[in-house]
Amino acid sequence: MEDILENKGEVKKKIPISLITIRSAKLFDIPYIMRIEQASFREKYPRGLFLTFLESNPDTFLVAEYNGKVVGYVMGYLRPDMEGHIMSIAVDPSYRGNGIGKALMIAVINKLFKKGARWIGLEVRVSNTIAINLYKKLGFKITKRIYSYYSDGEDAFYMVLTPEEWEKVNSG
Ligand SMILES: CC(C)(COP(=O)(O)OP(=O)(O)OC[C@H]1O[C@@H](n2cnc3c(N)ncnc32)[C@H](O)[C@@H]1OP(=O)(O)O)[C@@H](O)C(=O)NCCC(=O)NCCS
Repeated sequence: MEDILENKGEVKKKIPISLITIRSAKLFDIPYIMRIEQASFREKYPRGLFLTFLESNPDTFLVAEYNGKVVGYVMGYLRPDMEGHIMSIAVDPSYRGNGIGKALMIAVINKLFKKGARWIGLEVRVSNTIAINLYKKLGFKITKRIYSYYSDGEDAFYMVLTPEEWEKVNSG
């Protein structure tokens, strides 16, 4: 996944997770998704990538909506080798810490396993403690370190969630 931006000084909004709807992304969501991406990552994906991704993965490109506003998104897909992969996740900086990232991850994980994923993998910056905490909480384990994975030379952790771990997380 991409390079993260630190967002200092934004006003945090506290909202109950029950008011969040998770649904498939639509074409008209793309500008709002790109706005969240721009506030979250230093390296940006071109608009065309979001459009192609949506066309190829309409069930596993999800958004979180609050009061009719897109406040987060997750992009998951199934590789030909049946690895489910999380390509990107971000929550609007003003809405972080409300459980939205977790809700998006739970929704995409369930969809990918339902589609037959043998496991789910992702890459995360070794310095991105918040995201690493979130993934660990959901049962992901660090299985390797990928040296200089990012364009600025930072390493990535490759993290994996197996169906067995997912079952444990859900039953515990
Ligand atoms: C990572 C991100 C998606 C999390 O979204 P979020 O909606 O704020 O996360 P949640 O409120 O669902 O929190 C889920 C878990 O993440 C961890 N977490 C969230 N905020 C945290 C913080 N400030 N410090 C430490 N851990 C934190 C916790 O484990 C938390 O679980 P808990 O609330 O039960 O303790 C969000 O911070 C973000 O968009 N970051 C920038 C983009 C990014 O880094 N994406 C990941 C790239 S790999």
